[in-house]
Amino acid sequence: CTLIPEGWRFDCYPERGVVVNEEMCHKRNCCFIQVAEEKSPGQNGVPWCFYPPDFPSYELVTNNETEMGYRGKLVRRQKTYYPNDIETLQLDVLYESDSRLRIRVTDPAKDRYEVPIDVPVVKKKASNPLYTVEFTEQPFGLIVKRKQNGAVLLNTTVAPLFYADQFLQMSTSLASEFVYGLGEHRSNFLHDVQWNTLTMWTRDAAPVELTNLYGVHPFYLLMESDGLAHGSFLLNSNAMDVVLQPAPALTWRTIGGILDLYVFVGPDPSSVVGEYLEVVGKPAMPIYWALGYHLCRWGYDSSNNTWDVVKKMRNNQIPQDVQWNDIDYMDRALDFTHDPVNFATLPDLVKDLHIHDQHYVMILDPGISSTQPAGSYLPFQEGIKQGVFITNSSGDLLIGKVWPGLTAFPDFSNPDTHEWWYQNLKTFHDQVPFDGLWIDMNEPSNFLDGSVDGCPSNDLENPPYTPAVLGGSLRAKTVCASARQKLNSHYNLHNLYGLMEAKASASALKKLLKKRPFVISRSTFSSHGVYSGHWLGDNRSQWKDLYMSIPGMLTFNILGIPLVGADICGFSATTTEELCVRWTQLGAFYPFTRNHNTKDSQAQDPTVFSPAARKAMTEVLLLRYSLFPFLYTLFHHAHLSGHTVARPLFFEFPRDLKTYKIDKQFLWGKSLLVTPVLAPGVDYVVGYLPQGIWYDFYTGDSLVSKGEEIKLHAPLDKINLHLREGSITPTQRPNTTLWVSSSQPLHLIACLTEDGLAEGDLFWDDGETIDTYETDQYAYFIFRLKQNTMTSEVVHSHMEATYITVETVSFYGLKKGPTSVTVNSQEASFIYTTNQVLKVYDLGLNLSQNFTISWV
Ligand code: NOJ
Repeated sequence: CTLIPEGWRFDCYPERGVVVNEEMCHKRNCCFIQVAEEKSPGQNGVPWCFYPPDFPSYELVTNNETEMGYRGKLVRRQKTYYPNDIETLQLDVLYESDSRLRIRVTDPAKDRYEVPIDVPVVKKKASNPLYTVEFTEQPFGLIVKRKQNGAVLLNTTVAPLFYADQFLQMSTSLASEFVYGLGEHRSNFLHDVQWNTLTMWTRDAAPVELTNLYGVHPFYLLMESDGLAHGSFLLNSNAMDVVLQPAPALTWRTIGGILDLYVFVGPDPSSVVGEYLEVVGKPAMPIYWALGYHLCRWGYDSSNNTWDVVKKMRNNQIPQDVQWNDIDYMDRALDFTHDPVNFATLPDLVKDLHIHDQHYVMILDPGISSTQPAGSYLPFQEGIKQGVFITNSSGDLLIGKVWPGLTAFPDFSNPDTHEWWYQNLKTFHDQVPFDGLWIDMNEPSNFLDGSVDGCPSNDLENPPYTPAVLGGSLRAKTVCASARQKLNSHYNLHNLYGLMEAKASASALKKLLKKRPFVISRSTFSSHGVYSGHWLGDNRSQWKDLYMSIPGMLTFNILGIPLVGADICGFSATTTEELCVRWTQLGAFYPFTRNHNTKDSQAQDPTVFSPAARKAMTEVLLLRYSLFPFLYTLFHHAHLSGHTVARPLFFEFPRDLKTYKIDKQFLWGKSLLVTPVLAPGVDYVVGYLPQGIWYDFYTGDSLVSKGEEIKLHAPLDKINLHLREGSITPTQRPNTTLWVSSSQPLHLIACLTEDGLAEGDLFWDDGETIDTYETDQYAYFIFRLKQNTMTSEVVHSHMEATYITVETVSFYGLKKGPTSVTVNSQEASFIYTTNQVLKVYDLGLNLSQNFTISWV
């Protein structure tokens, strides 16, 4: 026992809140060494009770080659300390692709619950895998290595394997301490491996550190210290702990389902994310206005008040694409109703938004009121008739409590529920022609624990081991674990509630509006990006939360939900003008940008602040709108190839270890570096510029960095933006709605490398038709610069592009001023300034034609 270094001690007594002593530990046949520490054991400290090297595990008794890899038989001869060990297991090692390995451990005697999401079914073994697999027999273990350099990507021999009915556990060493992902938690972007337990069980809780939150994503990305990357995904939806410890090592500890583990070998971080999304699904292409500015609050109190804000925004010429309403639009908090008195003019407001090329989104909560007088509330009545609600373990309706009082919960695992949801949306849409949906409280949140009747006592309610969930039990502020859903128990499906609701909502919107659906969901699970975006929940109006929004945004980008943002200016507590300006500046670079505020707190939309603050906010929102062609193209690449939109620096500079920790700056795509101010009372910000030439976005001034921190001027009306050498960024003359803005002329910004090279691209379509890429209804262009000549090549043409012109092109970093510039061989107007910027203007080039700009 004493020979095992602290960092390598794997917890034999993970039960939360139990202070283990020697006797308890020895009963489990484990080593006991008390470690003096402030933190209590089991809760993020060195475990006092840990597995000895000879702790009984499984033995690999047979292992045969199959068409896809290997099939083995695992046998456990000695029981563990949890009930119902499954003594014989089937191991399948599947070489699914050259960069993807899948390891499945199942019960050959009985089907166990598996996550009902579609993953690729592969029939052909990878021909040239980038990895090797080794087996150990007694005890059983798997070692996966990167073929190229022998790096160990997975090594399960470090701790015993558990596979009991309600306790499955597998540990692995980690190739480095640089672990990312594993949402949803509030933390820095780079996870701490110092005894850090990340618990996964969807939960309505204002984001704080070290607790399970709204979403569940058992996927991590790991940077090996030499710049290569790999990732791993446990396809399991049960309550689980993911334990990081300083060895470094990681333990997956789940209380149901099967062990179905994917390894993605990259070799670069962007490929790892792409490989993960190949399995769970790539993000949807958003409807164009999803990328505009959204305004929301809880407590507008009336449609006229809401309307007033919209009008004030218009009068102040502040960009706004979407107006939202929170639950106050509803009649007594009932879904699919609107308050006939205070929101009587809601239909007119929505029509007015449409006339102004703006859109309307309202909230829906899953809880359906069960206490309305008979005949007065169809959603409940019809729902009962159609059997769409979750029942308790005896098959009776399960009743909880949410905003409208007592409620039933739709069971979105039932296809009938999707149809019922659609019908309700359709009826409501006939009254209020909304454009998108905000689905909240879908963990699902319940103001009671379990139900009005509590929960029965059984194995699902009281599993032998409960992960470290907030509230200490699975039922805490949600429905009973033993509640029944069409597909399976809530115990198994809980983490999928938001995902399934998002799926129902997206498909209903498609059917209803015949356009790309816009859905923003609070609860999420792996594959969620296919259906909806996400906001980071109930943050506070404080500087720390401004910062924490960046790790949150980056994490969801690597989890395949690029359409993400935090409540700008903060949800709870009262914002200040300075915080709100800085937040609007950062928020203008959230892929999803929405200002939202809680009930009873002071208004924080841009119109309520001083003229100077308003101006700063307007400018940064116009700036965002000007970047729409670039942002939209990034979303296209996310949709097509599983790329990130808001991107960590190390994705582009994987060999620069200094970037591994950075989460106060980020990139859009490869090339736009955003360095926001995150502290009060300052007019500068220190940012890291990776090695190379960076150009000030606004002026074109160049900065040559050796890979260093640089102090940047940042008065209250400025957010620092830098463009990377070698990029060409399409921008557009902005307007106050994206509808108008997206028909304006383009301005391209080419940033030269030392050798005078640059490249960029643009994806363009009508912004709202479903599957334009898949059905060939899009245009795509590549811009290239070399040897003093820039070309625009129409790679794929479409009518939409004929409406757009390229008006100006700026070249940043042109060392010598030209004597003449020609565009398609005709002389063109230009200016060249001392900061080495060449601007060619009055171009009027049709985007749908190839063109060339050169100079001598
Ligand atoms: C909780 C949500 O997180 C928040 O954004 C919303 O304002 C309230 N529910 C009220 O609907």
